Amino acid sequence: MHLILDTAREFRRVLERQIRRVPSLRGITVVNLFFEPSTRTRISFELAEKRLSADTINFSISDSSLSKGESLKDTAQNIEAMKIDLVVIRHKSPGAPHFLSRCIDSVIVNAGDGAHEHPTQALLDLLTISDHFSTLSGLNVSIIGDISHSRVARSNIYALRAVGAKVTLCAPPTLLPVDIGQYGCRVTHRLDEALEGCDVAMALRQQFERRHAGLVPSVREYHDQFGIKLAHLERHKNLRIMHPGPVNRGVELAGEVVDHERAIILDQVTNGVAVRMAVLYLLSGRQAASGLDALSDDA
Ligand code: CP
Repeated sequence: MHLILDTAREFRRVLERQIRRVPSLRGITVVNLFFEPSTRTRISFELAEKRLSADTINFSISDSSLSKGESLKDTAQNIEAMKIDLVVIRHKSPGAPHFLSRCIDSVIVNAGDGAHEHPTQALLDLLTISDHFSTLSGLNVSIIGDISHSRVARSNIYALRAVGAKVTLCAPPTLLPVDIGQYGCRVTHRLDEALEGCDVAMALRQQFERRHAGLVPSVREYHDQFGIKLAHLERHKNLRIMHPGPVNRGVELAGEVVDHERAIILDQVTNGVAVRMAVLYLLSGRQAASGLDALSDDA
């Protein structure tokens, strides 16, 4: 993770230049397979590929033969037969990227698989937090919201704990996984407890599309009990607010909190491009051949 974050910091310098492009992945072909809607992840992967001078193909279900009944395995094998190098996949089924890695030889990058994991989101979150605090070790991070259906929560728990942060999970009991004890995190059902001594509050969207109805009495009651409001920012003067997006204003965060100067949500989005450049570059094998010198030349 530290190698990826250090490489992302190098690429961030490229993105601040007048010409935001390097030749690091020239000759590499990347296919973006997005089987679920996405704004941030899809566009930032696409931008990352273009900034690295890769050739990119975007695939969507509606205009592919998947809509005629072709399987994921057959689709991937046919695309690979056209000579590609990397596949970025978002899929509603947990484990879809791992399944694909057994079907084809191309490098597979997980851009979010169901309620399982979203590794590049956790990496860009770590990079964003590290911009605001001198060390990640010992930092108090509270993840608040629909933990049981959130791939972002799972990847962040693993990543944050690996770098020594202390993680608190805050949700109504109905939105916590049954195996919550195995994650090594403090658990509370009270927002005030989660925010006490907290450095970063990471709010999560209610994943209505992944769950059955009735897990919270109403959206309004959820906001009353678990929504972060301006009063919380006034009470906790150093608290930073994060959210992976898309935000439901007035549900997990009050609108004024989203727009507050201590909300670093758009920094997360900015860092997404550099982190995805780093992941693609390191997985392409180009780094082994050329070292980080490849970052210094314009395309
Ligand atoms: N954070 C995130 O995954 O957002 P998108 O669904 O818009 O890609």
